[in-house]
Amino acid sequence: MSDAPLRVALVIGSTRATRFGPTVARWFAEQAGQNEDVALDVVDLADFPLPVAITDSPEPADAAIAAALSSRLDAAEAFVVLTPEYNHSFPAPLKVAIDWNYTQWQAKPIGFVSYGGLSGGLRAVEQLRQVYAEMHAVTLRDTVSFHGAAATFDADGNPKDPTGCSAAAKTMLDQLVWWGTALREARAKRPYRA
Ligand SMILES: Cc1cc2nc3c(=O)[nH]c(=O)nc-3n(C[C@H](O)[C@H](O)[C@H](O)COP(=O)(O)O)c2cc1C
Repeated sequence: MSDAPLRVALVIGSTRATRFGPTVARWFAEQAGQNEDVALDVVDLADFPLPVAITDSPEPADAAIAAALSSRLDAAEAFVVLTPEYNHSFPAPLKVAIDWNYTQWQAKPIGFVSYGGLSGGLRAVEQLRQVYAEMHAVTLRDTVSFHGAAATFDADGNPKDPTGCSAAAKTMLDQLVWWGTALREARAKRPYRA
C-alpha cells in the first residue's frame, strides 16, 4: 500500500466577485501545509464556470470546463469543501459542481470548512451531508466553522484568535487522513461499485 501523502482537493464553494472565501481558503491551506500526510490541490470553483443545466451534450467550451474540473476531482483521494451559508444552505455553484460529477466523489472522505453569519455555515454543512451521501461519499464528523466570519479575521487575513480554529483544523485533517488512507487501501483491494 502507498504511504504517499493523501491527495486532498480543497474545493472553494463560493464564486461571487466580492467573496470572503479565498481568505478562509488561504488560512486553511496553511493549516493543511503543516500536515505532512496531506498534499493539497486548491480547486476554486470560480475557475470552473459550469452551466446550471446538466446535459449529456454540452457546448464544447462547457465540456472543456467540465472535463477540467472532473479531472482535478478525479485525482483527489479526499476533499475539504469550503462553504459559506447562503439563505440557510450552500451556494448554487457548489451544487452545480457536485451535480456535474458523480464517480469523482465516490468512496472518498469529505471534510468541511464553513463560514457565515450567526450559524457559521453549519446549516450549509448539514445539507451538504445529505447531498454527499447520494454521491457515495463519507462525510467527517468534525468540521471547522467561523461564525461572523469577516469579523473573526484581521486585515492580513489571519484569524484574530487562531487557537480554536487551528485545533479544529488539525482534528478534521487527522480524521481526513485516517479515512482517506483507509479508503485508498480499500479501493485498491476492491474497486468500489456504486
Ligand atoms: C445571498 C446571501 C445569503 C446569505 N444568507 C446567510 C444565511 O442564511 N445565514 C448566514 O449565517 N449568513 C448568510 N449570509 C452571509 C454569508 O454567509 C457571509 O457573507 C459569507 O461571508 C459569504 O461568503 P462569500 O463572501 O465567500 O460569498 C448570506 C450572504 C449572501 C450573499
